[in-house]
Formats: sequence, structure tokens, C-alpha cells
Amino acid sequence: MVWDALQGVLAAVPDASDGDKTASVIDIGGGTGGFAVRVAELGHRVTVIDPSPDALAALGRRADESDVADLVTGQQGDLASLFDLVPEGSADVVLCHGVLEIVDDPAAALRTIAAALRPGGTLSLLVGQRHAVVVARAMAGHFGQARALLDDPAAGGVTRRFTADEITSVLGDAGFEVSTVHAVRVFADLVPSSLVDLEPGAADALVELEQAVADRPEYLPLATQLHLIAVRP
Ligand SMILES: C[S@@+](CC[C@H](N)C(=O)[O-])C[C@H]1O[C@@H](n2cnc3c(N)ncnc32)[C@H](O)[C@@H]1O
Repeated sequence: MVWDALQGVLAAVPDASDGDKTASVIDIGGGTGGFAVRVAELGHRVTVIDPSPDALAALGRRADESDVADLVTGQQGDLASLFDLVPEGSADVVLCHGVLEIVDDPAAALRTIAAALRPGGTLSLLVGQRHAVVVARAMAGHFGQARALLDDPAAGGVTRRFTADEITSVLGDAGFEVSTVHAVRVFADLVPSSLVDLEPGAADALVELEQAVADRPEYLPLATQLHLIAVRP
């Protein structure tokens, strides 16, 4: 579902700054390139910024195997050093998937990302959703942990998570206009995998169900993750 939304964003990039249809994409914390390589396979140029040399080595292998090494650049660094590695205002699209949960200052991170985008550029942001972890702990029988997480979202060393309102507000403060908020993995993490694997057609039906609830706001508090598309005006 995230990929579907991202393809829509990439298809909507106007003729990129150099006059062709190639978008300039930065994948912050892109890790081993699960998204970056697929973006490059569509013909776009992707720079992956990640502090992990192991992840960048795996990215290089993956890009080679997919014949897109000429379009994918891995740079060791992090958000704090972003403008030592890429010019400000240069990106048509920035991906920030699974990173805002672990940086020291999410608000500062989003301001940096806004500065990396050209005016009119788009951010694809994937973050953990706060309430899902309470449900997950309760479903696993850890009722005490679930109770503690109700009042303290960081109880037990749980990484930072956001409600839809919180992340929308932080994005607004960083100068973004949020265009879509999607619920990601509302049911997938709650269903025993044996049910999905054994029942013929169950996996497809689950995907269809996830797609059907993704843009229903009442399901946002149940989603494991939130996927937001936001534009730098
Ligand atoms: C949960 S993984 C997400 C990987 C990938 N974006 C994905 O969606 O599969 C988080 C990644 O962020 C990287 N990371 C950690 N701190 C970072 C920072 N301050 N700036 C940029 N990347 C960071 C990690 O090395 C790791 O590859």
C-alpha cells in the first residue's frame, strides 16, 4: 500500500529540474534499499542516506542485482549531516520511512527534510502509530505492559510512536501541508500467520481488506503504521 501511494507521488513529479521525467529522490534512513531500488527501477535517481555501513553494503548489492547501480547512490551519514551530502532544496521527493521513531528530535528532523526538498517537493513519511502497540501487547497476553503503555507511550523502552493528530501537527509546524494520511497494517499484525498461509486466497483477501480501510479515519488508531504524504509549499 505504501508503494502504491509512492508510485502515485513519483508519477506526479512534474518534468524534473533537468527537463526529463526523472525525479531526484532522497531516501533518509533508507537502509538496505527496499524502497530505493524499486524507485530506481522506475528510472528515478535515488540517494540513500544511512549511518549503517552494513546497510549501505547490502544496498549496493541489491542495486547491482537489479541493474540500477547507476541510479542509486549510498551515502554514509544521517539527518544531522544531510547538507554535507546533498544540496539544500534539491529533492523532488524525500522518503523517510521508519526513522522518525528513532531520531533525537523529530521536529528538527522534519525541518531538515523540508529544507532538503525543492518548493513543491513531496515527503513520503512512514511512522509507527501509538495505539497499535497497546493492542499488540494485550493480544499477546501482556496486559500489564499494555496498561503501562496506555499512560506512558515509552514504557518498557518502546520506541517513539505517533497518533495521526500528533504527526500531522509536527508536520504542519515544520512547514508541510499534509495531503493524505493512510492506515497501514490495521489487521495484518493481529492475524495469526497460520490463518493467512493455510486458507486459500486469504492473503489476497487480507490485502483487499487493508486497502479498503486504509483511508477510513476511524481505522487510523488501530493501524501499526501511518503513511503520510506531505508537500513543502
Ligand atoms: C527501521 S530502519 C528503516 C529502513 C527503511 N527506511 C525501511 O523502511 O525499510 C531505520 C533506518 O534508519 C537508519 N537511521 C538511524 N538513525 C538515523 C539518522 N539519525 N538519520 C538517518 N538514518 C538513520 C538506520 O540505520 C536504519 O537503516
